[in-house]
Amino acid sequence: MTKIIKVNPVKPEKELMKIAGNIIKKGGTVAFPTETVYGIGANAYDANSAKKIFIAKGRPSDNPLIVHIDSIKNLKNVAYTPKKIMNKLNKVWPGPLTIILKKKKAIPMEVSANLETIAVRVPAHPIALDLIKYSNCPIAAPSANSSGKPSPVKVESVINDLYGKVDLIIDGGDAFFGVESTILNFLTNPPEILRPGAYTVEDLKKIFGNISISEYAKGEKYAEIAITPGMKYRHYAPNTPLFIVADYIIKKLKKRKLNNIIILCTNENALNNVNEVIKLGSEKNLYEVARNLFESLRELDYRNAKAGFIQSFPYSGIGLAIMNRINKASGMQVIKTETMLTEIIKKYELKNV
Ligand code: TXA
Ligand code: MG
Repeated sequence: MTKIIKVNPVKPEKELMKIAGNIIKKGGTVAFPTETVYGIGANAYDANSAKKIFIAKGRPSDNPLIVHIDSIKNLKNVAYTPKKIMNKLNKVWPGPLTIILKKKKAIPMEVSANLETIAVRVPAHPIALDLIKYSNCPIAAPSANSSGKPSPVKVESVINDLYGKVDLIIDGGDAFFGVESTILNFLTNPPEILRPGAYTVEDLKKIFGNISISEYAKGEKYAEIAITPGMKYRHYAPNTPLFIVADYIIKKLKKRKLNNIIILCTNENALNNVNEVIKLGSEKNLYEVARNLFESLRELDYRNAKAGFIQSFPYSGIGLAIMNRINKASGMQVIKTETMLTEIIKKYELKNV
C-alpha cells in the first residue's frame, strides 16, 4: 500500500517528516520532491533497500543511483574528496549539481551498479534535506518516474508512475527547475560534464575553472560504453512519435493545417486556432521552458495525437539541458527540410483539417 501525505515545501511539518524518515530507516521507499525533479529514495547504506528502487522503477541494475546527503560535512562518509574541490563545494551546495568521486566502502555496489565511483549531491529542498536528516542516513534516489519516462515535476506524475510500488509519496508541490541536476565528473582532469542539468556549465566554470563537456552532453549520441551508464538508454520518451523542428517548419506546419498533431513550442511561436499546441513558456525565460518540458511530454501522450513536433533551443545556458532532454525524448528525429516534413506526414498519415 502506498500512502500519500501533503507536506509544506517551505517549512516541512516535523511530525510528518519523522514518519517519512522512519520508513527509510526501516528499509522502505519514499518519493519526495527536490529542487530539480521528484526522486524515489531509500537508505543508501543498505543494498536491499536500494534494490527496491530498481524494482519500483523497472530500472536496469547497471544504471547507478545518485546518493543524496544533507551537508558537505557528511560527504566523507560516502566518498573520497580531493582537498582542492572541498572548499569550493559550499558555493554550489545545497544545489542542483551532482559530482562523481571515488566511492567509500560504506556504499554498497548495488547503489553504484558495481562502479568504484559514486554520484553524490546535497539537494536544495527543505523536504529532501529533512528526509535525509530524519532518516539518519544518505539517501539513494533516482528520478521518481518509471524507467524511460520523463522525470516527474508534478506529484500527479509520481502517483501515475509509482502508486502501489513505493511505501510513501510526499506531495510537496511542483519541483522547481524541472530538469535534473548537472553531473560533473571530478575523476578526470579537467573535470567533465557528463549530463547537463539545472546548474549551467557557464556558472560551473566560474567556480571550478576549466571543465570539459562530454560529447554525449548534447544528447545527440548514445554511449556504447558509457561512463554515465544512464547515457546508454532511451530516456524521457513519450509514446507518441516526437520530432524536433526548426522555427520555419512550425510555420509550414501551420499552413498545412493538420488536425491530428501537437506542436510543442514557446508562447511566442504558439499558433492561434490552427493545430493543437502545448505552450512550453516564454522564449525570454528558458528556465520556464525547462520547468514545463517533462510535464508537456507527458501531456503529449494524454492528447492522443499521431505525432508531436517540438521546437529547438540554443545549446547555451539552461538551453543545453533542455536540448539534451529533447534530443533524447525524440530519439534524435530532426526535421530539417520541407521534403522531410512531407515524408513524415505521409508515413504517419497526418490528415488535413
Ligand atoms: O536532479 C537529479 O539528479 C535527480 C534528483 C532526484 O536528485 N536524480 C536523478 O537521478 O536524476 P537519475 O537516476 O534519474 O539519474 C542519475 C544519473 C544516471 O544517468 C546515472 O547513470 C548517473 O547519474 N550516475 C550515477 N552514478 C554514477 C557514477 N558513479 N558514475 C557516472 N554516472 C553515474
Ligand atoms: Mg532519471
